[in-house]
Amino acid sequence: MKKKITVLKGDGIGPEIVDEALKVLDKIGGKYGHTFEKVFVDMGGCSIDKYGVPITDEGLEKCKNCDSVLLGAVGGPKWDTGVDPSKRPEKALLKVRSELGLFANLRPTKMFNQLKGASPLKETGIKDGLDLMIVRELTGGIYFGEHKTFEVDGETAASDLMYYTEHEIERIGRVAFETARKRGKKVHSVDKANVLDSSKLWRKVMHRLAEEYSDVEYSDILVDNTAMQLIRNPGQFDVIVTENMFGDILSDEASMLTGSIGMMPSASLSSGTLGMYEPIHGSAPDIAGQNIANPLGTILSAAMMLRYSFDMIEEADAIEKAVDEVLTEGYRTVDIAGKDEGITKVSCSEMGDLVCSKI
Ligand code: IPM
Ligand code: MG
Repeated sequence: MKKKITVLKGDGIGPEIVDEALKVLDKIGGKYGHTFEKVFVDMGGCSIDKYGVPITDEGLEKCKNCDSVLLGAVGGPKWDTGVDPSKRPEKALLKVRSELGLFANLRPTKMFNQLKGASPLKETGIKDGLDLMIVRELTGGIYFGEHKTFEVDGETAASDLMYYTEHEIERIGRVAFETARKRGKKVHSVDKANVLDSSKLWRKVMHRLAEEYSDVEYSDILVDNTAMQLIRNPGQFDVIVTENMFGDILSDEASMLTGSIGMMPSASLSSGTLGMYEPIHGSAPDIAGQNIANPLGTILSAAMMLRYSFDMIEEADAIEKAVDEVLTEGYRTVDIAGKDEGITKVSCSEMGDLVCSKI
């Protein structure tokens, strides 16, 4: 098969980790007879520096006209101040998500047995293991409601609108129930229905779906309780579905339970096969350019791309298995090195080479 991938390396460690994922994709292409054509587009701070905007219209078009998008990370302190808020690196990310219709963000959070030692939870908290899927709504809610700053009674006020329509809730709900059917058949829908109207509507729509998907076990859970239960007993969860901002917060929390946010991939899906794939961590400017970042989150994101956008299941399995083997043999980037014995510390590019060598 021939597939066109738009590659957004981004800022900070973005270029280093994406290079390793591309290496792995080329290895897969060679082995299974696929050609991955790459189109490179600047997004984030690197685009602000070159063009004055976080993504150009031409760049955005290239993201729309391809088979899928691979992203490293965007942003950094250089563009935190002195940049017009409407042109911040993050704006480009939100624009791409919205313009490509990427409403469903899948964030698998899995404990690699080999990395148990790196988890901040004591054995008791992770005794049931940890393998959950966060399904985060990505193009609605408070991120995309009206944002405004205004004067009232002689002082400045600001507000952000949390806004959802039934169809937006229903389509993300369906993704969650369908995902659960292929996994542990359990959905927890996270909301704040004891306070927010948008959550009351969320819950009503989810209940309707729960009746339709009666083979899936369904529970409502409040967001604050979810934050606690994730620490107390994360093994109770299979699929968690939630709105945009709750999902942003809970997915960072959940990822840390696995030992390192550096391991976590994500897929942002539309109603078609076009998707964007990126690690959930940020651009880590403090370690950029040192060849010490963990490329596994990006490599596993490339595996998700093969699985979800290209339907290359065997190829995706091969990448995931290769990562597993490399970890079993004790190879670690610094973020996951922990204090275990028999560990070999490796650089970002060495980790990419090791994964390739197992394919
Ligand atoms: C994420 C990030 C983004 C988000 C930022 C960079 C806008 O935190 O993908 O989780 O809040 O969605
Ligand atoms: Mg986030």
